[in-house]
Amino acid sequence: MMRSHYATQVTESLIGQTVTVCGWAHRRRDHGGVIFVDLRDRSGLVQTVFHPDQQSAFKDAEGIRSEYVLMVKGVVAARPEGTINLNLPTGKIEIVCQELTILAKSQTPPFMLDGFHDTAEDIRLKYRYLDLRRDQMQERLQVRAKVTSFIRRYLEEQGFLDIETPMLTKATPEGARDYLVPSRTQVGNFFALPQSPQLFKQILMMAGFDRYYQIVRCFRDEDLRADRQPEFTQIDIEASFIDEKDIMTCVEAMVRELFHSVKNITIPNPLPVMTYAEAMRRFGSDKPDLRVPLEFIDVGDLLKEVDFKVFSAPANDPKGRVVALRVPQGGETLTRKAIDEYTAFVALYGAKGLAYIKVNDIEQGIAGLQSPILKFLPEAVVSEILTRTQSQNGDIVFFGADRASVVNDAMGALRVKIGHDLKLLTDEWRFLWVIDFPMFEFDEKNNRWQAMHHPFTSPKINSLEELQDPGTLIARAYDLVLNGTELGGGSIRIHDTERQQAVFKTLGLTDEQAQEKFGFLLEAMRYGCPPHGGLALGLDRLIMLLCGASSIREVIAFPKTQSASCLMTGAPGSVELMQLKDLGIKVV
Ligand code: AMO
Ligand code: AMP
Repeated sequence: MMRSHYATQVTESLIGQTVTVCGWAHRRRDHGGVIFVDLRDRSGLVQTVFHPDQQSAFKDAEGIRSEYVLMVKGVVAARPEGTINLNLPTGKIEIVCQELTILAKSQTPPFMLDGFHDTAEDIRLKYRYLDLRRDQMQERLQVRAKVTSFIRRYLEEQGFLDIETPMLTKATPEGARDYLVPSRTQVGNFFALPQSPQLFKQILMMAGFDRYYQIVRCFRDEDLRADRQPEFTQIDIEASFIDEKDIMTCVEAMVRELFHSVKNITIPNPLPVMTYAEAMRRFGSDKPDLRVPLEFIDVGDLLKEVDFKVFSAPANDPKGRVVALRVPQGGETLTRKAIDEYTAFVALYGAKGLAYIKVNDIEQGIAGLQSPILKFLPEAVVSEILTRTQSQNGDIVFFGADRASVVNDAMGALRVKIGHDLKLLTDEWRFLWVIDFPMFEFDEKNNRWQAMHHPFTSPKINSLEELQDPGTLIARAYDLVLNGTELGGGSIRIHDTERQQAVFKTLGLTDEQAQEKFGFLLEAMRYGCPPHGGLALGLDRLIMLLCGASSIREVIAFPKTQSASCLMTGAPGSVELMQLKDLGIKVV
């Protein structure tokens, strides 16, 4: 071992002792014949000092540049009065160098580790090894390691077994495209990388393991966003002889202890639960950010008869929706320019406009309001809207009118944006279980039903006849939401072949297709399948929220870009023609 202490272990208690620290030269300053070098390792910084009387060390120290790798042996000394830095754990001491070894030199880094704020993300990702040296990234990955360690310990104490499942497998549908791996031994055939271990974990239940968990990589070729990566990590859980309540209780207890142990945050017990229908009605989202104290108020029923087509058409359309969103005091704080920006913002979600009413003085009736739509609406309707939304002087009420899906997306996003912009957030952490999801949703583009969670989720039905009317069915599915992010989701599964086949049929699969894709699952179910269910939490999202990071790229050591490439290695890259030939593949 070259080092005796990590940088931040060197504190006042070691004054007078000789220590050896190893790490990178963070900063060098020359001060009146004395050289100071801040040495950095994964724990943080410690100041080392080189005096001219240590001739050889001093001479070498003059050559130290940023990011040189050093071993410094010296005596711990109290810093002179006036040079104490209370922001650093090592701010009261310094190491007076007796021996300096330069273990490696460094080229001039492409960005300063301190001044990284101006550094473009692609530069950070290209030189990820430098970016990861920053204290923030060091801390995030250390939190990540703490969390996985905690979870393993917790689940193992609860009797869950860590069992690995294949990476080279068959497609498991979770709604994304598969990453395919060509087979060399069976030219023309392909493995799929797992979108999740869903089918394997269910089969492990059929195999009698009863309680399974895995911290597992999943692969999905889908459009990337701040909270999506092509490969990401799930905390995957499955158990037998349980119901929704059991799984939810187990998972929330784990998350509660985790937050307490890692961040000293206390979260409610039990966590609140809301149905999908209520979440959509009040917030236009199945993952509402409950820190934002704004809610939709439906006003379609008041607008069926008005002359303003923009409102009356969706008000009369069963698939339409008209909602009001009151922002208390928004009339005072939001400028014309801000309203224009919000109009452009909702347009990103397909909204064709953003009507509003500013409430200046409610006593004056219409004269006390300011709005581009007053001319289209009877006074009685306006007054009813203001009553229903409980509007007060100084407020602004926004309106969304369109197909329900557009209104929900656009006004749901606006609600969150305004909440952040106007700093309306009421708490720091708001967890929520969302339950009673629809089992199926209709895919207009492909003109067929899709499973909203996945096709192995059990619908709440008493008889198979009920599958005739897929649009009305509720799934035994649940999502865990934190601050507007879907942290995880799961369900109680179907555990008999007949029901599973009926669901496949509803999804438009023929018996042959179902057999070809999922024959092994259907067959396994015939040999004694216990009732079972589970859930998967997105580990990256959990860490992102715990660290207050804005993207999961910030909590993954080597993430991919928006276009799913790795800027450091250059993956994906080209391959030798011979390799393709072996695989029987021709690029067109
Ligand atoms: P689901 O598809 O909801 O469920 O995924 C579970 C959780 O995984 C995280 N997640 C992602 N994180 C980062 N990047 C992605 N591309 C990505 N996709 C999903 C989310 C999500 O809530 N097999 C089921 C679980 C089950 O039923 O037990 C499943 O995979 O946080
Ligand atoms: P227009 O008559 O199209 O100029 O619209 C009058 C007002 O209604 C403007 O403030 C528009 O921003 C708003 N508006 C238009 N379409 C919609 C819509 N679908 N939902 C909400 N407001 C809209």
